[in-house]
Order: sequence, then structure tokens, then C-alpha cells
Amino acid sequence: MKETYDIAVLVGSLRKGSYSGMLADALIRLSPANMTFRKVEIGHLPLYNPDLDGREAGGAWAQFRDEIRGADGVLFSSPEYNRSVPAAIKNALDVGSRPMGSSVWKGKPAMVATCSLGGVGGFGANHHLRQPLVFLDMPVMQQPEVYVGGVKALFAEDGSIASEATEGFLKTAAETFAGWVAKFA
Ligand SMILES: Cc1cc2nc3c(=O)[nH]c(=O)nc-3n(C[C@H](O)[C@H](O)[C@H](O)COP(=O)(O)O)c2cc1C
Repeated sequence: MKETYDIAVLVGSLRKGSYSGMLADALIRLSPANMTFRKVEIGHLPLYNPDLDGREAGGAWAQFRDEIRGADGVLFSSPEYNRSVPAAIKNALDVGSRPMGSSVWKGKPAMVATCSLGGVGGFGANHHLRQPLVFLDMPVMQQPEVYVGGVKALFAEDGSIASEATEGFLKTAAETFAGWVAKFA
């Protein structure tokens, strides 16, 4: 067991003040002290093109891979776009999965949290995201599943959570993830 675990945080929304960013921040805040987090940017990554990999144009990809390679686990927090994941997240997964045989994702424990303005909580995105994570051989925490609906009423601008029940649920999820990471790291 390590003393602290370093978790890479990928947020699926690129906009400022995003609810999925707030959800990530809440999970970070509610996590045990032995979990340290760093947000890894994905919005600047060019769309993956194998022809350009290993050349100058692939510099952002190489840096991104290094940032993931060093992590003990990965927290994904994302909105749902058209019943799936935003392209930025899928692109980041593709970038990290190559060159063939050097995937940076393999074996890293992961948690998937999704949110939405409506009541469904990004269920479609959550499960679409789980599909590549299986292929990438990332052990994904199964329970609790984190679908957070009604985010507009839930999060205040300062990131505080209006519902005690939801805050308690997110704390349980964050603590369970800490245990999950410790099993694999
Ligand atoms: C391109 C696009 C597609 C969307 N598709 C869905 C959807 O399929 N399901 C849903 O619940 N919300 C959908 N929304 C609404 C988002 O859930 C909402 O904009 C949310 O606030 C985005 O997350 P963010 O606050 O983290 O940026 C969509 C929004 C955008 C911009």
C-alpha cells in the first residue's frame, strides 16, 4: 500500500464553470486525505491521427501520455453529449491508447461520474465511457454508479452542494474509489 495515491482527473466538458468540473471538484473535496488529484487538460489535444504520431505535431499527445502514465488511477467526470461521451474524452482515450502496445491506460483503476441538467444524470455517457475502458483494461469501479441529475439546482457557484443526501452519496463514492485504487495500485 502506498501512503498517497495520485489521481488524474479528466473532465469531459471544456467550458468554464461546467457542472462536470464542479462534480469532479466535489469528489476531490470529499475524498480521503491520502488521495491527491491533478486535473489533466484534454481540450487542446489535436484529434488523433496515427500519421502524425511521433512527429512534431504529436507533442501534445506525448505530454498527455506522460501525465497519465504517472497516475495511480483516473477519475472521469463528464456530461452527456447526445446520449454519449463528449468527443474530447474519446479523443483523449484514443491518444493515450497509442502507439499500439504502449497504452498508458492499462491496469489503471478508474471511476466514472456523469451529470446532467435533467434527471437521467448522464446514464448514456456513463455507459458508453465504460465500453472503451473495458477494452483498455482499466478496472472500473462498479458500485456505486454515479449519475448526478438536476445539477443546476444542486451546485451553487462556489461549488457547494444543496442536497445533504447527494453530498453524502458522493462522499461514499469517493471513499469507495479510494479503496478501489488501493487494491490495484
Ligand atoms: C452538444 C450537446 C449535447 C448534449 N446532449 C445531452 C444529452 O444527450 N443528454 C443530456 O442529459 N444533456 C445533454 N446536453 C446538456 C448537457 O447535459 C448540459 O449542457 C450540461 O450542463 C453540460 O455539462 P457541463 O455543465 O459540464 O458543461 C447536451 C449539451 C450539449 C452542448
